[in-house]
Amino acid sequence: MGTNLTDPKWWSTAWQTHHQRYVSRPSYQAYYLDCILPKGVKQLLELGAGSFRDTAQLNKWGYECTGTDFSPEAVALAQRTYPRWADRFHTADATTLPFESRSFDISFHSGLFACFDDDAMIHAVLQEQARVSRVAIVCTVHNALNATLKEQFRRQAESDPLYQIRFFAPEEITQLMRPYSARLSLYPFGALWCNRLIKYGRNRLLTRWYYRLTHKRWRWESCERIMAVGWFS
Ligand SMILES: C[S@@+](CC[C@H](N)C(=O)[O-])C[C@H]1O[C@@H](n2cnc3c(N)ncnc32)[C@H](O)[C@@H]1O
Repeated sequence: MGTNLTDPKWWSTAWQTHHQRYVSRPSYQAYYLDCILPKGVKQLLELGAGSFRDTAQLNKWGYECTGTDFSPEAVALAQRTYPRWADRFHTADATTLPFESRSFDISFHSGLFACFDDDAMIHAVLQEQARVSRVAIVCTVHNALNATLKEQFRRQAESDPLYQIRFFAPEEITQLMRPYSARLSLYPFGALWCNRLIKYGRNRLLTRWYYRLTHKRWRWESCERIMAVGWFS
């Protein structure tokens, strides 16, 4: 795994190249999160928000979503792309968050743990998530059961260290999150047909209906990510 991925300076340079491409794609994490959030949840926190496309989308839908990333350049680029929500975007390290305890219903991230080969970093982030959240913590990780995706990343990593990432098996993310949750749910994220529905429909209610009806039958081997949710009760 690239040691670059834990360096905010490296990410600041990387986001200058990748920001536009990320924000032109659908905010899949926002759609999948919206499928599983319980009623009444409103205040959200995203860590390692990168392009901030998911934070922006969730705000458009009426959630109060604060987005954070340790790269000041990622934050500045996102503030230019999404000026309406600029005051909700902050530079912050996910291991030392500048928020009071229990400030948010749910904290989440998508692809952040891919940056860490050291479990100590993962525990430091989980500890902070558990501290600032009231209802649950969400960790979306790249799915080690998807061999095709792993191979694709391995090939792309030859020319771009952005792809030198860590994948997680369901048991691995379960073990990491167990000490911070009363109950764990693993939800599939990124199956082909649901991604297409999101990409071409951009319809939140239709996506939610389709996801809830079908996701229990999705094959883990064909899903891009695992959305692991640690509930506090
Ligand atoms: C794979 S990217 C996430 C992409 C994001 N989900 C999106 O859709 O745009 C990982 C992000 O985590 C950030 N990051 C890495 N380590 C961090 C840390 N310790 N604290 C905060 N952000 C961190 C990087 O700057 C990068 O933007």
